[in-house]
Amino acid sequence: MLGARRPHSSAALLSTVLLLHIQAAVAVSFQVLVPAGPLSAPLGGTVLLSCHLSPALSAQAMQVKWSRPQLGQDVHVYLPDGTEVQGERYRGRTELLRDRIQSGSLALRIWNLTLRDEGRYLCDFQSDTYFSDATLELHLTSSGSDPLLDVSLYKDQGVSVTCLSAGWYPEPNVLWRNSHQKILTPESEQKLQSDDGIFNVSSTVVITESSDPALTCTLSPGSPGPEKVSAIVISDTFFPRVSSWRVPLFVILVILMICVCFLILAALCLWRIHKEKGAIYTELSTFLLHLQPFMGVGPC
Ligand SMILES: *[C@@H]1O[C@H](CO)[C@@H](O)[C@H](O)[C@H]1NC(C)=O
Ligand SMILES: *[C@@H]1O[C@H](CO)[C@@H](O)[C@H](O)[C@H]1NC(C)=O
Repeated sequence: MLGARRPHSSAALLSTVLLLHIQAAVAVSFQVLVPAGPLSAPLGGTVLLSCHLSPALSAQAMQVKWSRPQLGQDVHVYLPDGTEVQGERYRGRTELLRDRIQSGSLALRIWNLTLRDEGRYLCDFQSDTYFSDATLELHLTSSGSDPLLDVSLYKDQGVSVTCLSAGWYPEPNVLWRNSHQKILTPESEQKLQSDDGIFNVSSTVVITESSDPALTCTLSPGSPGPEKVSAIVISDTFFPRVSSWRVPLFVILVILMICVCFLILAALCLWRIHKEKGAIYTELSTFLLHLQPFMGVGPC
């Protein structure tokens, strides 16, 4: 009986062991999930890169590595024995959040973000028998200062208004509009990038007395984020040469010329009437000679 049952029993044992092996192989396969779409974080600020397993297996006995595949750098590695290794360039700036490692989640916090932290990150889970990874993209942003508007006279032709704003990343766009929402073309525009990647922007428009005096300068970031706007109304007093000085001068000149013509006509008439009388002619000549320094006109 015993002998007869043995072969049967060992066959059953073998198939049970095989089944367990297959089940184990199925159970350790997993997928790595990261947030869809790029993440955005402020330059100089902090970001949390999350990454987890599906199904939610424990990752305690796995190796979990955050790295920069494009740069060939390891950022932060968790080893199966529970120790961690921090990448050279990330020393003192990263932390793994291990509180949910039992459910397969290991987020990475990076602080004091610099432009070199921008780009792709690979999150890689590795068990004894299986591995999987996922990539996420980090974008950095910096919102600049409120635009400052600087007004000055422009080559006797009008007034130039310069819009200044510092501290942008990525490169922002500058847009000038008048009160009718018409877009104005700047006379000049400058975007200076400093060594740390930050942009300073300066844009100048020129307006004349006949232009719409209400202007807005809008800086919009090169990535999703709030705009910065400044507005100004240029008063007439900014056009002194044209409005309060040139027009009166022109009127005075015209009046002066009319006076001169009158005097010449009067002199001619007097000269004709008293043509024969040499004495009166002499009188008139003296009169005109006296007048000469004031009028700038010689005797007829
Ligand atoms: C991170 O920035 C803070 C100021 O926000 C500074 O005090 C600290 O020294 C910086 N740490 C590193 C590692 O650069
Ligand atoms: C940008 O502006 C800031 C603040 O006004 C200044 O400190 C910095 O030197 C400027 N950078 C460049 C490249 O002009």
